[in-house]
Amino acid sequence: IYLHGNNKSDAELEQARDAGVGHVVLDSFDEIDRLERIAPGQRVLLRVTPGISPSTHAFISTGQVDSKFGFGMDDVPRAIERIRELELVGLHAHLGSQIFDLEPYERLAELLAGIGEYPLLNLGGGLAIAYTYDDRPPSIEDYVEALLHSAPDDVTILCEPGRSIVGNAGVTIYRVGTVKRIPDVRTYVAVDGGMSDNLRPMLYGARYEAELADRLGGDTLCTIAGKHCESGDILARDVRLDDPRPGDVLVMPATGAYGHAMASNYNAIPRPPVIFCRDGRAREVVRRETFEDLTLRDV
Ligand SMILES: Cc1ncc(COP(=O)(O)O)c(C=O)c1O
Repeated sequence: IYLHGNNKSDAELEQARDAGVGHVVLDSFDEIDRLERIAPGQRVLLRVTPGISPSTHAFISTGQVDSKFGFGMDDVPRAIERIRELELVGLHAHLGSQIFDLEPYERLAELLAGIGEYPLLNLGGGLAIAYTYDDRPPSIEDYVEALLHSAPDDVTILCEPGRSIVGNAGVTIYRVGTVKRIPDVRTYVAVDGGMSDNLRPMLYGARYEAELADRLGGDTLCTIAGKHCESGDILARDVRLDDPRPGDVLVMPATGAYGHAMASNYNAIPRPPVIFCRDGRAREVVRRETFEDLTLRDV
């Protein structure tokens, strides 16, 4: 296990120590002091901000100089020198997320290896997935090749992909509640969820496709709206559906990553369940939230 975070609390570090977490990824000078006090001898990596800006949305770009994460290249020598009571076994860098252009990865191992000789280099995650019909993400093989492109022979290279493992494994199933036609302007199709189960469209303009479950395709140009009290609560724009009506089941593909994990109870909307499906069988793994759940912490 690699424990990340730009502001790990004392309690989190103590919990990591007690649970025997394999590696803590150091993110700041303050954390070096904190961890030396809490868990002397802990195995650590140092998170480096390599000054590489991948071509992705600014909110999911983390490798550039102006970042809240990690140590800038100028600070790295000072950070390494500061470590006295921890076992530094390697370096880490995470360039960002939903990255299509693999070129920045090709330089990463070389850049980190240039900092010092460590047995472990963790090159983060970030491999893009297809959210829309137009998206053409790189293959896993090409991604791995790019990671290894400049890697020294005797170093273990790790990566920590997230979205590319689970993103396309998930679909969100909504029920259409209302259809509002504004002549010559737009047709809003409102569903029984929205920014509380998928914040990505609002957070960084992420694009999705949508289909009616029993009538694929169609030629009604629609905007899929959530049910929250924000005009910006829009899940997808300009998707074509087959004459959507209240009661229809609407499916949005590629919602397996950063949907459930980012979900909230905004407007006191209970969160939906998570269902695993395989070979025609369905199994509930997270139950639907109830209104009673929402008041459980009230005192
Ligand atoms: C440090 C770190 N590693 C890996 C990941 C996974 O990224 P992705 O889902 O883009 O592969 C993240 C995502 O936020 C991260 O912060």
